[in-house]
Amino acid sequence: MQLKDLTIEEKLRLLAGKNAWQTEDLGGKLYSVSVSDGPVGVRKTAWLDWSHNGENTDLPSVAYPSIEVLSQTWDAVLARKMGECLADDCIEKNIDVLLAPGINIKRSPVCGRNFEYPSEDPMVAGVCAGEYIKGVQKKHVGTTLKHYLANNNEVGRFWASSNVDERTLREIYMRNFEIGLKAKPWAVMSSYNTLNGVMVSQNKEYNGYLREELGHGNGLIMSDWDAVRDHTASVKSGVDLEMPFNAAHLEKLKKDYEEGRITIEEIDACAQRVLDFAAFAEKESKLRKIDRTVEERLAVAQEIEEGGIVLLKNEGVLPIKNGQSVAVAQQDFSRYYAGGGSAKVNPVNKPRLLQDALKDVLTDSTIVAENMWGGGDAYVRTFTNADGKDVSIVMVGFEESEGNDRRFLNLNNFDNEDKFIKNLAKRNKNTVVVMFGGGVVDVSEWIDDVDALVYVGYAGEKGAEAIANVLCGKVCPSGKLTETFAKRLKDYPSENTVDDGLNYNYTEGMNVGYRYFDKHPDKVRFPFGFGLSYTSFEYSNIAINERIDGLFVSFDLENVGNLDGAEVSQVYVSAIAPAVEKPIKELRGFTKTYLKTGEKKRVEIKLDERAFYHYDVTARAWVKDAGEYDILVAESAASIKLKGTVSVK
Ligand code: GLC
Repeated sequence: MQLKDLTIEEKLRLLAGKNAWQTEDLGGKLYSVSVSDGPVGVRKTAWLDWSHNGENTDLPSVAYPSIEVLSQTWDAVLARKMGECLADDCIEKNIDVLLAPGINIKRSPVCGRNFEYPSEDPMVAGVCAGEYIKGVQKKHVGTTLKHYLANNNEVGRFWASSNVDERTLREIYMRNFEIGLKAKPWAVMSSYNTLNGVMVSQNKEYNGYLREELGHGNGLIMSDWDAVRDHTASVKSGVDLEMPFNAAHLEKLKKDYEEGRITIEEIDACAQRVLDFAAFAEKESKLRKIDRTVEERLAVAQEIEEGGIVLLKNEGVLPIKNGQSVAVAQQDFSRYYAGGGSAKVNPVNKPRLLQDALKDVLTDSTIVAENMWGGGDAYVRTFTNADGKDVSIVMVGFEESEGNDRRFLNLNNFDNEDKFIKNLAKRNKNTVVVMFGGGVVDVSEWIDDVDALVYVGYAGEKGAEAIANVLCGKVCPSGKLTETFAKRLKDYPSENTVDDGLNYNYTEGMNVGYRYFDKHPDKVRFPFGFGLSYTSFEYSNIAINERIDGLFVSFDLENVGNLDGAEVSQVYVSAIAPAVEKPIKELRGFTKTYLKTGEKKRVEIKLDERAFYHYDVTARAWVKDAGEYDILVAESAASIKLKGTVSVK
């Protein structure tokens, strides 16, 4: 099918979906591309139109842990495996393109979609998304990197303007896309919001950067669903495909063409990309095959959760030993296996309760449970069953979904969870809090009262098994935070800017996450890159080597504890006397190393190619900043283990 063979009506028809989940097929002349959410499971809604949006008619599919949990594994291999499994799920359901991954930067800790995004740091976000994309696309299924650009809150998402300076956009909010685009996603989804006063879905300038400077080239740009207000302006800006189909928009586009408000060249540019997208998908569709059974995919879902759980506090009660008596105030799985909105997926199996999963591991233990659901009064009960037990576990957390943002950061869904935890800890000092949700929680009320805190995110349908394995030491926790947990909501710079409901003013600039909290360590509860283990690691012998293909930092890493484990090592770069203002340090490399007890390995990390650059707005280019730099090998943003220096010419 060539563009030249199409009538103008056919070209215009191509620029909108056939319905909500397929591209136009021109009466069967063209391959129709089927798309489906979501990032942690294939929804495959039962309705092709969007009139049933919001009804849960999705076919069951493997429910993996959230993208936040995946990023907390810091493990490129796991990210690729998740992509491969999702591709198998897509192939089973005849889906050509997955509407994922989301990659937006976590500017605000209360953004309702933070569970769908990897990190506050653009490198972690870009690498995590990139590996996921590679996993999906190596199996000839496509991905959609979303939501371009600066869509960092949910309240007002359909209209509010994110007002961001150019350097901050380039180094923080576009850098994640630039890194993710190296994996060549088939498509990018433009976002609902406005950027510096111009709707992103009509923003010719930033869509141009996306193509010419960030690397998307002639890749397809699709709108978010119902994100287009003026289809003609959207096409002129380079958004190729409006989703879903909107008859009125198409009518107006046709009229605008007939009356000369849009040229044939502008239409052809987008129509050609839609044609190429469909032709490529058709070619790829013939190469697909399923490699993993559903059981094997479920095992990967469990492996991701086990690798992404973060142990935030442990005074010694963990791991739980077989034979110890346990009381568990447990949650209904529906609250902790997945977040809401378009990322929701109906699991293949009914996720298990924590009590049952614990019984599989603690075969000699007495385990009593209290079911903490059934409305707000659940947490006013006194959990007397915990009295006298060796370990008492309480599951708490919060639901999160696109379309809204939390208004507070602590656990007060029912106003009683904080009190419940404090009372429980008074009755049993060996209290373990298992916390689920989509990100940061203000734990100030009770963190000093409990022995241990484990953050499990949205755990996927194998969550109970994964949590039990970590709590009982069958798996050594190795996850680390990819978002700073500050003490209070007001500690975040994003919460102290002037927003009027129509504008989010990013006056904090580059001061996002650890780039801000490095200057305010007193405000940090758990730092970026932090996570405890049941074993311990020693770092030694740093070396820095400049090679033709980049700068490499290497060091010895030894597991000096008595359990097999894995360590996430981070490399930050800190300019000693920068000529331009820079954050104190910036993450420029990381890796996860698996070590048996007593094992020692030489670890090597390649630094990001822009490690010593900043974006010069005047020159409109990335500029290398010569000078002296500290190279910091760290176990978290707050704990440097080794230091070297380099002189950059
Ligand atoms: C939603 C989301 C987007 C999703 C799309 C289709 O509103 O913003 O992430 O892929 O619409 O459900």
